[in-house]
Amino acid sequence: GKSGYDHFMLKEIHEQPTALRQCLSGRVDELSGSVTVEELDDIQTPETVQLVACGTSYHASLYAASLLRDAGIPANAYLASEYATSTPPIPDGTLVVGITQSGETADTLSALRAARSRGAETLALTNVVGSTASRECDHVLYIRAGPEIGVAATKTFTSQLVGVNLLVERLVGQSGGGTRELVAALRNLPGQIQTVLDESNAAEIVEEYGDCSSFFFIGRGLHFPVALEGALKFKEITYEHAEGFAAGELKHGPLALVTAETPVFAVVTGDDERARKTIGNVKEVEARDAPVVVVTDGQSDAERYADAVIEIPETNGRMAPLLANVQLQLVAYHMAKRMGRSIDKPRNLAKSVTVE
Ligand code: M6R
Repeated sequence: GKSGYDHFMLKEIHEQPTALRQCLSGRVDELSGSVTVEELDDIQTPETVQLVACGTSYHASLYAASLLRDAGIPANAYLASEYATSTPPIPDGTLVVGITQSGETADTLSALRAARSRGAETLALTNVVGSTASRECDHVLYIRAGPEIGVAATKTFTSQLVGVNLLVERLVGQSGGGTRELVAALRNLPGQIQTVLDESNAAEIVEEYGDCSSFFFIGRGLHFPVALEGALKFKEITYEHAEGFAAGELKHGPLALVTAETPVFAVVTGDDERARKTIGNVKEVEARDAPVVVVTDGQSDAERYADAVIEIPETNGRMAPLLANVQLQLVAYHMAKRMGRSIDKPRNLAKSVTVE
């Protein structure tokens, strides 16, 4: 049942701290500062990685590709439907990773099969034990999020991002200080998400924008996949037009759409070059009178240019996107609820897409 929540989606959003504790259980050790993933004992460090996935899982793939490249491994994320029919060259030593919550998405299975038929080693990052993806791949990493009923992926996305951190650590094995810091940040994450859930002002924020019919989400670096995901969740359950952009791309086209009727949600954390550049983009949309909502940890002066602020706790650069995403889940949920939408079963969509 829904355990007293109005919707499965809200229940699953609130299950995220528990889901992550399950995902991390026995895999991170704070004393030694190490990461172990039992099911990946026999995996070798690949030369390159290709990731294939759809929808929300594709956004997790973009995040994963970024982390891998930061760790020095060439990596690219592909939409599974494209990869299946326009398969790129697969160099020797490539690991092809399918990210799929259900393990049954037809496009993702086709992409993985295309990779396998070309001799590539494959790995499934999935939630479902015994799923087709888990059976067909050479390796599997379970995200252990528990069952997700709502069509909108919430706790499984957050668990995928944590799973990706474990995978990258296992593949690249940075060891030493880097791992210790990551382990500490991962261990803090469930509690920080709980803080977000307890203190979120997302429900009040959406009240301001009930009359708007176009919503934009922007972010840079690891916040770019979060911007895409924020927009996907929003359009999926509110049926309003929403788009996510890399913040730097605004002026290459989308800025033409920006008016006083298009709220822009900007994710800005830290106080580095990236944050400063995103703040520059916030100023661009502000100058076109767009209402700006900044999702921030308060480290930069982004709030000065915002009409409204959604706060997240401070953490490291890898975990901040996960906290920002939880706030954007709540933004989508509360807007859809306000509009009386069918939140757990949006029109035209299925939980598991088993046709290509
Ligand atoms: O089961 P999968 O992770 O392979 O599903 C992929 C997409 O169909 C899925 O993430 C979809 O985009 C969600 N409904 C988004 O909330």
